[in-house]
Amino acid sequence: MGSLCSFLFFLVWFVGHAAARPFYPLPSKVANGLRQPLQTSRPYNIAHRGSNGEIPEETDFAYRRAIEEGTDFIESDILSSKDGILICFHDVTLDGTTDIAEYKEFANRKRTYEVQGVNITGFFTVDFTLKELKSLRVRQRYPFRDQQYNGKFQIITFEEFIAIALDAPRVVGIYPEIKNPVFINEHVKWSHGKRFEDKFVETLKKYGYKGSYMSEDWLKQPVFIQSFAPTSLIYASNLTNSPKIFLIDDITIPTQDTNQSYWDITSDEYFGFIKQYVVGIGPWKDTIVPVAHNNLLEPTDLVARAHAHNLQVHPYTYRNENMFLHFNFHQDPHQEYAYWIQNIGVDGLFTDFPGSLHIFQESTSKNGGDNDTTMSLLHKIALMVSPFEKSADTC
Ligand SMILES: *[C@@H]1O[C@H](CO)[C@@H](O)[C@H](O)[C@H]1NC(C)=O
Ligand SMILES: *[C@@H]1O[C@H](CO)[C@@H](O)[C@H](O)[C@H]1NC(C)=O
Ligand SMILES: *[C@@H]1O[C@H](CO)[C@@H](O)[C@H](O)[C@H]1NC(C)=O
Ligand SMILES: *[C@@H]1O[C@H](CO)[C@@H](O)[C@H](O)[C@H]1NC(C)=O
Repeated sequence: MGSLCSFLFFLVWFVGHAAARPFYPLPSKVANGLRQPLQTSRPYNIAHRGSNGEIPEETDFAYRRAIEEGTDFIESDILSSKDGILICFHDVTLDGTTDIAEYKEFANRKRTYEVQGVNITGFFTVDFTLKELKSLRVRQRYPFRDQQYNGKFQIITFEEFIAIALDAPRVVGIYPEIKNPVFINEHVKWSHGKRFEDKFVETLKKYGYKGSYMSEDWLKQPVFIQSFAPTSLIYASNLTNSPKIFLIDDITIPTQDTNQSYWDITSDEYFGFIKQYVVGIGPWKDTIVPVAHNNLLEPTDLVARAHAHNLQVHPYTYRNENMFLHFNFHQDPHQEYAYWIQNIGVDGLFTDFPGSLHIFQESTSKNGGDNDTTMSLLHKIALMVSPFEKSADTC
């Protein structure tokens, strides 16, 4: 073995071993410092209830699929079981997205409760223990979406949801909602007089979520706390400085806690007040660009006024299917994304199809998308090393 060969062999050995980890680490083995960071240079891709256009909403599999597809944040609605365990579930009743109707032993649990001024009848999550909820299986909400996963997945807890994000091969943020807090606090009682909001923030803190927007702590474990209830956001802001987003409903729906109208909570005066507590708003997208006969009308001034108050705007919900696309977009979801990102200038998008949004953003990204990441740098180094590896082999 010549001395050059020995040197090359040593070089390859050194480069391969000095880092004390392989060049292509297995996803779950990637140390925190090496994980590809959250992209912060373009509007956030927020996976609404996971990749729920493809997989039944709020399930482990829906969230993992969204992460594979390149989402920045996985989004979840947090409710509670009867025994006070926080779960990922959208509706206050189980009827729409589980197989609860098939369980004879639960048939007598049907109730009617008033929720946000409306009487609703069904099987409520707050009347079932976590163990009982875990015995159910989740179903696809819409009949026109893939039904093959019905009956395969369980309801997951808030803690299980957090674990999915923390276990991801790159930094993936979480975007949990304090859902129906007025109703949950009426029906679920925790020890020591704790409220739903206390349990919610305690859970985030237990797993290390802290720090203001864009702080070092936040970039390590990004989180947005969202709620339609202003009093919950104000209460939570006393407990954590994690960034919060104020959700804004359709113009016909008053806030569930303060009974304020859409016009009250979108006034300049109110934006001036709420920005002490939140970094942005999450409006229903038709309040930004109203729609008539499935055609877009003139945009309102909501985004301009929110931005003037330094509030981000993360509208909901973008869905690829024809029946959700306005005629202006020629049945092409990428044209809808282009319009909202380039013309309206939003800062994040809640989408049922995070894979589709990711492909759109990668193909239009000015700064090369995933190019400037640690993992791609490692990839380049590995490519530079491989010629040496070959010559070492022939020695
Ligand atoms: C709901 O039902 C109860 C009992 O029938 C009734 O007293 C109440 O007024 C109803 N609430 C609404 C909003 O309809
Ligand atoms: C925030 O905490 C302070 C000090 O404990 C308390 O006086 C205040 O009422 C709290 N505010 C809210 C909105 O809970
Ligand atoms: C909410 O406000 C509306 C409009 O001001 C009023 O008619 C209604 O009675 C209020 N509801 C409650 C529960 O306070
Ligand atoms: C990544 O960088 C390469 C080389 O600089 C460039 O050709 C490619 O278009 C970039 N990728 C994206 C997604 O922009």
